Amino acid sequence: MMQTVGIENFYKAKWGAMGSEIVNPIGCADCHEPEKMNLQISRPALIEAFERQGRDIKQASLQEMRSSVCAQCHVEYFFKGEGKYLTFPWDKGMTVETMETYYDENEYADYTHSLSKAPMLKAQHPDYELSQMGIHAQRGVACADCHMPYMSEGGVKFSDHHIQSPLAMIDRTCQVCHRETEETLRNNVYDRQRKANEIRNRLESELATAHIEAKFAWEKGATEAQMKPVLKALRAAQWRWDFAVASHGGAFHAPQEFQRILAHGLDNAMQARIATTKVLASLGFTGDVPLPDISTKGKAQAYIGLDMASEKQLKDEFIKTIVPEWLKKAKENNRLKDKN
Ligand code: HEC
Ligand code: HEC
Ligand code: HEC
Ligand code: HEC
Repeated sequence: MMQTVGIENFYKAKWGAMGSEIVNPIGCADCHEPEKMNLQISRPALIEAFERQGRDIKQASLQEMRSSVCAQCHVEYFFKGEGKYLTFPWDKGMTVETMETYYDENEYADYTHSLSKAPMLKAQHPDYELSQMGIHAQRGVACADCHMPYMSEGGVKFSDHHIQSPLAMIDRTCQVCHRETEETLRNNVYDRQRKANEIRNRLESELATAHIEAKFAWEKGATEAQMKPVLKALRAAQWRWDFAVASHGGAFHAPQEFQRILAHGLDNAMQARIATTKVLASLGFTGDVPLPDISTKGKAQAYIGLDMASEKQLKDEFIKTIVPEWLKKAKENNRLKDKN
């Protein structure tokens, strides 16, 4: 579709614009060239991001390609400028800080937070970037080593294309390299995830409080100038929280980096709260900011005024009317084998 309509037009179009054309979102050609089935990079954004860093993806080794094919999608990206051109923010590097600097210098925000008015960054899923900070990537272990292990059937050895958690087949993943028992290896993963979640949970509650306190300061008459340090710390805090939690698997892929990022996020959230307290004090308000009850998802949704009933109705309509139309058209155009 990118080749047919042109890359720029593809990016500019709405998500649903080609619903009847793209029935299989991921296909062999995403990762393989059609002649010899060698691994290839088909998505322009990764090739372009490499080029801007002065690297040529065509020089990548096979082992690098066994991760790079995944980096076509499992990465941070944004839609740049008027043309909404899909871009990876890697020009200054692939860490949480260098990407933030890139966005800051371009004065880029994905949205303005409706409570605190902070100019927010929404992390996509920097799985590849974050995993590169971990020991496995640094020792040359590729995504495919853990997520697409070898298997054999009828004497033929091939790569498991059912991409899933490596813990579902530890004998073919971790144990190819490690001698420990399945239980030990599984616990190694869960242990790292549990420890990361301790900090994540603390950060989430401080972040929510910081946004609500900032809203309160605006209501008490705070000025843009007064709120500037608050909003800056809030943007930094949530970017760090999002970068970590949206990078699926990051707690195991790169545990130290993951916890470092969350720790700085927690620090930034506390800085935002301290700055708000100062603003409020200068406006003559001391004491605790009244906080709403957001102890459940439903209560939090009600507090921010999200109309879940109409959201659900829109989703139902989409599934009942639009999707069947797409599938009907796809069948007519031979985009879909008539098996179900
Ligand atoms: C997400 C990327 C990705 C997609 C999509 C993908 N493959 Fe693969 N494929 C790989 C990787 C990685 C390897 C391992 C390559 C290597 O180590 O030489 C591989 C290997 C292969 C091989 C070589 C034998 C083997 O298994 O090691 C064949 C054949 C193959 N894939 C066929 C397909 C077909 C057919 C499709 C579509 C139905 C497909 N692949 C979709 C990533 C992908
Ligand atoms: C063309 C884009 C694309 C490529 C290339 C791609 N992925 Fe994904 N991957 C996705 C999407 C989208 C999902 C989420 C699917 C869903 O939620 O149903 C996903 C889900 C996953 C999951 C979770 C699977 C589960 O059990 O829920 C893992 C693990 C994963 N990908 C690893 C990889 C690895 C490793 C590679 C490279 C060999 C790769 N992906 C290449 C788009 C991609
Ligand atoms: C292709 C080989 C390979 C595979 C597959 C592999 N590892 Fe590793 N693992 C390594 C290497 C290499 C190191 C670094 C150790 C060193 O250099 O001394 C490492 C280090 C580790 C460490 C210590 C570092 C840390 O994160 O604290 C743990 C734990 C670990 N692996 C668990 C696992 C688990 C669990 C799996 C499966 C999900 C797995 N490994 C899959 C090669 C592998
Ligand atoms: C050393 C083994 C190893 C390597 C290398 C590795 N992963 Fe993972 N990955 C894991 C483990 C273990 C988990 C956690 C699975 C779980 O919780 O069940 C995971 C989780 C994930 C998830 C989340 C899956 C889910 O169901 O939520 C994604 C996506 C993912 N990895 C993608 C990647 C990508 C992309 C790469 C390469 C850039 C990569 N992984 C490299 C072991 C590995």
